[in-house]
Amino acid sequence: MKTISSFILLSLAALLPLSAAPSRHTFQIGDNDFLLDGKRLQIRCGEIHAARVPAEYWRHRLKMAKAMGLNTVCAYLFWNAHEPTPGQFVWNGQSDVAAFCKIAQEEGLWVILRPGPYACAEWEMGGLPWWLLKQDDIQLRTTDPHFLEAVRHYLKEVGRVLGPLQITHGGPILMVQVENEYGSYGKDANYMGELRQALLSAGFDVPLFACNPKSDLRNGLRKDLFQVVNFGSDPAGGLQALRAIQPKGPLMCGEFYPGWFDTWGAPHHNGKTDAYLRDLETMLKAGASFSIYMAHGGTSFGFGSGCDKPFKPDTSSYDYDAPISEAGWATDKFQSTRQLFTRYLLPGETLPEPPAANPVITFPATEAAEVAQIFDNLPTPVNDAKPRPMEQYNQGLGCIDYRTTLPLGPAATLTAGAVHDFAQVFLDGKRLGFLDRRSGNFKINLPARTKPTQLDILVDAMGRVNFGKDMHDHKGLIGPVSYSSANGAKTEPTSWFVYSLPLSDKMLAAMKYKLSPTKASGKPQFWRFKVNLDKPGDTFLDMRNCTKGMAWVNGHNLGRYWNIGPQQTMYVPGPWLKAGDNEIVVLDLLGGDKPTVAGLDKPILSQLRPEMDFAHLHRAEVTLNLDGRLPVHTSTFAIGSEAQTVRFTAPAKGRYFCLESINAYDGKDFAACAELSLLDPDGKAIGSENWTIAYADSEESAAEDGSAENAINGQTTDYWHTEWSKKSPPHPHRLIINLGTTREIGGLRYTPRQGDANVAGRIKDYRIFVADDLVK
Ligand code: GLA
Repeated sequence: MKTISSFILLSLAALLPLSAAPSRHTFQIGDNDFLLDGKRLQIRCGEIHAARVPAEYWRHRLKMAKAMGLNTVCAYLFWNAHEPTPGQFVWNGQSDVAAFCKIAQEEGLWVILRPGPYACAEWEMGGLPWWLLKQDDIQLRTTDPHFLEAVRHYLKEVGRVLGPLQITHGGPILMVQVENEYGSYGKDANYMGELRQALLSAGFDVPLFACNPKSDLRNGLRKDLFQVVNFGSDPAGGLQALRAIQPKGPLMCGEFYPGWFDTWGAPHHNGKTDAYLRDLETMLKAGASFSIYMAHGGTSFGFGSGCDKPFKPDTSSYDYDAPISEAGWATDKFQSTRQLFTRYLLPGETLPEPPAANPVITFPATEAAEVAQIFDNLPTPVNDAKPRPMEQYNQGLGCIDYRTTLPLGPAATLTAGAVHDFAQVFLDGKRLGFLDRRSGNFKINLPARTKPTQLDILVDAMGRVNFGKDMHDHKGLIGPVSYSSANGAKTEPTSWFVYSLPLSDKMLAAMKYKLSPTKASGKPQFWRFKVNLDKPGDTFLDMRNCTKGMAWVNGHNLGRYWNIGPQQTMYVPGPWLKAGDNEIVVLDLLGGDKPTVAGLDKPILSQLRPEMDFAHLHRAEVTLNLDGRLPVHTSTFAIGSEAQTVRFTAPAKGRYFCLESINAYDGKDFAACAELSLLDPDGKAIGSENWTIAYADSEESAAEDGSAENAINGQTTDYWHTEWSKKSPPHPHRLIINLGTTREIGGLRYTPRQGDANVAGRIKDYRIFVADDLVK
């Protein structure tokens, strides 16, 4: 007769992915619960991206996850990290995800795999490889045959490498996600069907599932895919919405946000810990499963960081205010999550102690010893009749310089179709100014020239947009470049020399360094530092004396930096340093004074320095032009967090769309909006590519990122919020979208700020204006 204790031991053993000879466990999706070996399993999961954690620290972070109380880890695959060039796959070193899964199993964690092909995740192009864009008209995330063929090829390879690690084959992988929040992008269930079939053909035989935010659960819905819902607040509302489309099966939140990601130039995000713990407990009590996104954010090393739409480049730190910090430290949020989970463990289930934090070192401010100017180290150019996006020169990442010679002539205005993302314009090697995607400012004044003059347009490409149709994000110069003088003569230069500057290891190795001058050159250059250390350890590279670019330590690309913040330090993992001499290389795009770098013992992730921004205005200055104008629609939004569709009595035409709040449900001065999308006269959603914010009367930017761009970035978790910390201007508040061209508008879809009933800013009465000249 089996004793109680042996029975408990047996059931406990069944719960853990045994690390020794992995026995065959079973995992199913029951009518009410997930069933592991036929027993109910409440999945307490957390997201960790192997690509964002130095491989040497995977075990440390997974031990932290286990100690926090997680029984499962959820991991994206970033296609572009595994197939950087078509047909060449990388599964070793930092890309050895099979090893990551095996370590998870050894540490007693199950795995939920999210192979994509699209992931989002504030990662370069949402994980899709840039080379797909070489096909100019490719339709990403659709049944476009070019796209599907590449996807099938990739997923087949994923099946070869990770298929054997499924629970059905003795591994830790419980289930696999198909795509990612496809409902926020499209409604084509066939496309999801194609991906589902590709995963089955690739050998995945564990349950396949899909995730979406609650507002998009019905889009592309398939009954042959299990559904989970993503939300950052109001778990009851989220799980209810899930139950509405999936009457049976366990309830699961696929992404529950303890914090949020940062973008350059906007305030650092801190999650609301009380609400996070309260909502987690609600799910625990409800027996629902969940995945904390992110449990440990890590770092977007190299070219990993993506870009929020319409164009808000993500920082390289992906600390995400997660319970486990960027350097793997146990934060207060970690401790309180651990304490909470301890109250919901199965009888006899215990949590291991968290591993010790890794050693931290510091080193004093160190001056750059040498410098290498990019213009002195240019590669062989391509000669072209017109400038094209970098993908057309078979380049995906980094910078690119477009050079031509301007004949002598009068002052003129140089205009580019578009610049993705920032350009410095040089005449005979002297910087004239900047072109900037944030403000859509692609014009610059050229002085009169008394002799033929060399023009350089050096374009710096940030990460590709990782969300929405804007992901078709070609980099470099987009469209024609011309200059027109006062007499109206317009000229398009027809002989360009194009220099690819991919910032690759090969390019860095070819740089010829000189002793560093003292005076700022104002030219793009690499600084080289030598730092001697007694012993290696984790440290935080202080970049505040550098301008904008990237940094490398002993050949490891740490990612992007930008002194406007909020991030001012870069995480340097100890295993990438060594006792003795270490080499640090810093790309300084703006050619500032001779910099110093130092190793700090704490990160600086929350220091904005707008005064350092080369384009002080990231939005063109305009004046409101509403006086005496009749609104095209006046009404009252419904109370609550539900998204609302509004149809106008008659379509309205214009390039600008203005939402004006008259008051808010809480009677206070604030207005907020999580998402705003527009409908054409037939009620169909209008694409938001090329939308920018033309004007917002007030945006909170000191205490939180309440920028107006949040209302058109496709994410319902962040929001536009008028000022509240330093001052609170009263209604009416106005947000004006520049649609990029004149459109006919038949209505809108307004998603109020999410969260519980008493969140501030829920707009009550409002007016809508549409015209070609709402701003001047
Ligand atoms: C979405 C995506 C995630 C991530 C979060 C924001 O829900 O699915 O990949 O982008 O938003 O961090």
